[in-house]
Amino acid sequence: MNQKQFNAFQKLTHELTGVSISDHRQSMLEARVGRRMRALTIEDTNQYYQLVLDCPDEQMLFVDNVTTHETSFFRTPRIWQYLEQDFLPRWLAQNPCSVFNVWSAATSSGEEAYSLAILLNEFQKKHESFNFRITATDLSTEMIQKCLQGNYQKRAVASLLSQRPSLAKQYLTAHSGGYRVSDTLTNQIQFQIHNLFGEPNRISEFDLVLLRNVLIYFTQDDQDRVLSNIHSSLKHKGMLIVGESESILHSIANYENIAPCIYQASAALH
Ligand SMILES: C[S@@+](CC[C@H](N)C(=O)[O-])C[C@H]1O[C@@H](n2cnc3c(N)ncnc32)[C@H](O)[C@@H]1O
Repeated sequence: MNQKQFNAFQKLTHELTGVSISDHRQSMLEARVGRRMRALTIEDTNQYYQLVLDCPDEQMLFVDNVTTHETSFFRTPRIWQYLEQDFLPRWLAQNPCSVFNVWSAATSSGEEAYSLAILLNEFQKKHESFNFRITATDLSTEMIQKCLQGNYQKRAVASLLSQRPSLAKQYLTAHSGGYRVSDTLTNQIQFQIHNLFGEPNRISEFDLVLLRNVLIYFTQDDQDRVLSNIHSSLKHKGMLIVGESESILHSIANYENIAPCIYQASAALH
């Protein structure tokens, strides 16, 4: 891939996903584009670029390939402890008759959404009046298909099996050399394709949004756009959780930092 081709793919990636690939990551982009070209037995980079421009189906596959999907069950244990022991009991005491509404935005292959579902089911067992609704979205069609299938390799559930064996036993069954999450969990989650840069269609709806490990791929201006969208989707004083290496204190949207990675939406924008 020459410099001109790299710049063209860099620009296209940004237009389609918002993800900014810095100049020093050329080899990573080359490897990801190359993987797709080999699958199609295309040798000419310009020909592949044109195909992505012309063919919406290939555009989807390009997006799947150039984005990073790393995730795991109960990633960053501190966050899940906070939700279980602090946030949820407080939320229920303040909202005894409401439905807890949570969104896992940029959920990748679903481990985050299923961790939420497990946590909320367990909380419900202890608090019968508690009800919840989970939405999980990602830009990648392939990831949303994976979420809906709910099949995970041993490696993906290793931490759940070792750290929370009783939960793993309840919610996972052995399947094709790996594991499958219970249908009950899959049916509790609304999985959808959604671009974080798209118009927010859920206004003031969510009590909690998990937006973890995706902002790092965006420029500061793009982060601001996404954070404003998320702010519109959160209820007043709704909670936003970001990834361990992400901070949103620069954001033009109004968020108050509660603890590392944890923010509360304050006064509405406008
Ligand atoms: C590294 S994964 C994070 C998964 C999970 N939130 C976690 O922290 O484990 C980042 C995900 O963001 C998604 N993504 C990238 N750009 C996006 C966009 N503009 N809109 C929605 N999702 C996007 C990717 O498809 C990928 O699955």
